Amino acid sequence: MYISDPQDHGLSFDPFKAIITPRPIGWISTLNEQGVPNLAPYSFFNALSSSPHMLMFSSEGLKHSAANARATGEFVFSLATTALQQQMNTSSDTLPAGTNEYITAGLEMGKCEQVAPPRVLASPASMECKLVSSEELIDIQGKPADTFVTIGQVVAVHINDDYIKDGRFDTAAAQPLARCGYRDYASVEQVFELMRPTDGETYDGVDR
Ligand SMILES: Cc1cc2nc3c(=O)[nH]c(=O)nc-3n(C[C@H](O)[C@H](O)[C@H](O)COP(=O)(O)O)c2cc1C
Repeated sequence: MYISDPQDHGLSFDPFKAIITPRPIGWISTLNEQGVPNLAPYSFFNALSSSPHMLMFSSEGLKHSAANARATGEFVFSLATTALQQQMNTSSDTLPAGTNEYITAGLEMGKCEQVAPPRVLASPASMECKLVSSEELIDIQGKPADTFVTIGQVVAVHINDDYIKDGRFDTAAAQPLARCGYRDYASVEQVFELMRPTDGETYDGVDR
């Protein structure tokens, strides 16, 4: 099959999000300008840089998370896991501005140190972020796409000690939840190691 116009794929459903998988889920906490917490999952989410640590999420329409991050300059990423899938899903509900999804999803808020929004206390890891940029995407015709990319720099990290093993974050134990296409998800429960050609016998655990 060849698709010459991605918007006219001829399949029952657009395969875009089913092909670009698995996507990590950024569970994004913000505060609105009145200080009310907001929590929502974003799978157009990823790490962008490791020095300094930067990450991004992308909002199709200026949703509360993106608008709050833009207005306050802060957000927090918590790792969504298989164990927290129901709470993650509940927090994706479209609710009026000023609704605290921590309450609707039955989640406890954890305190952050360097930013004001809370973190998902039950999550194995969270990252406190300060806003680097908030931009609307422009398409190849120069037309605004109504999609907003929020980039943040990580200023602090919280890791539940239960998930630290031999000095490493134990990804398989945390079981990150990943977004696939349609309503499909994957659970990361097994990892394997693959040395790079340049690693030789001297691999020191640092990615370059
Ligand atoms: C697993 C998952 C991933 C999602 N990823 C995105 C995304 O990347 N971008 C987006 O705009 N909406 C995404 N959504 C939908 C938002 O979570 C949903 O619209 C939510 O109500 C937005 O909340 P907010 O307005 O409080 O930010 C996702 C939903 C789920 C369940």
